[in-house]
Amino acid sequence: CLPRCVKIVEVGPRDGLQNEKNIVPTIVKVELIQRLATSGLSVVEATSFVSPKWVPQLADAKDVMKAIRDIRGVRFPVLTPNLKGFEAAAAAGAKEVAIFASASESFSMSNINCSIKDSLARYQEVALAAKKLAIPIRGYVSCVVGCPVEGAVPPCKVAFVAKELYDMGCSEISLGDTIGVGTPGTVVPMLEAVMSVVPAEKLAVHFHDTYGQALSNILVSLQMGISVVDSSIAGLGGCPYAKGASGNVATEDVVYMLNGLGIKTNVDLNKLMAAGDFICKHLGRQSGSKTAIALTRI
Ligand code: HMG
Ligand code: MG
Repeated sequence: CLPRCVKIVEVGPRDGLQNEKNIVPTIVKVELIQRLATSGLSVVEATSFVSPKWVPQLADAKDVMKAIRDIRGVRFPVLTPNLKGFEAAAAAGAKEVAIFASASESFSMSNINCSIKDSLARYQEVALAAKKLAIPIRGYVSCVVGCPVEGAVPPCKVAFVAKELYDMGCSEISLGDTIGVGTPGTVVPMLEAVMSVVPAEKLAVHFHDTYGQALSNILVSLQMGISVVDSSIAGLGGCPYAKGASGNVATEDVVYMLNGLGIKTNVDLNKLMAAGDFICKHLGRQSGSKTAIALTRI
């Protein structure tokens, strides 16, 4: 049994561009976001209000938000690692934010410089501040099947962090295979554990495609009742604190698969491909989307 509609959360401008060696000019980021919005995507994660020392690629978060604030009908969540980031995001006009915890202790330290427990305390502060302003929060759990340092991550650890974020009031919890090591063999038991504590309709999946397993992992997630999928235009991305991880599954490939399954997305694949082409030309490289490459040859 598959969902009739899937909501795609486009994370390319954030997850993709945070990992580019060369800093992408603000004007290019803004045009990319505009093009993604025009393709019919309803949610485009726009940037992060994180420390510019940690992620210099997104140091222009405020300017990006200013430039896109008049685009209607699309939600533009931003990452906020702490209260300082939340306040800056709210001041810049963000109407939705995302907090990001980890199921692995080592990754929590390398990504946000604190333990899982301390991160949850920080996020509780962000959640309270967001509630006061009626700003919805999305919660990420990273390393849901594997950690770059610790290896395999037990499903019970993922379920614990997901439940904490849910109890904090997160409206959606996105489960991230940060380094893309999962297969349906590890993803299914992880989802079973999480679904025993958080309802499926509150969950999203976020697969990096390092081992080429993302589409299979998405398909099993859909079969288990999840209907929100994160992806990145042209497969851009990775995580600067997860060495060797490649980008998220390409949005074009997800849309192609969902079209084939007869699942509604409201996304125009041609416009999406044009957005992918735009950013790939700027970056001077071939698309990470097999669909985009195949359809461009025809
Ligand atoms: P820290 O160094 O421990 O922070 O970093 P601190 O509180 O000690 O502050 C140090 C300095 O940073 C101070 O400035 C603060 O003001 C400043 P100074 O006095 O030295 O001039 N600072 C900030 N500046 C701007 N915005 C802020 C902010 N906070 C502090 N929000 C911190 C801790 C969390 C800030 C840092 O580790 C950080 O920014 N980490 C973000 C890392 C990141 O963005 N990673 C990628 C996103 S997560 C991801 O990709 C995974 C995901 O896609 C899901 C998946 O794939 O699994 C979501
Ligand atoms: Mg990611």
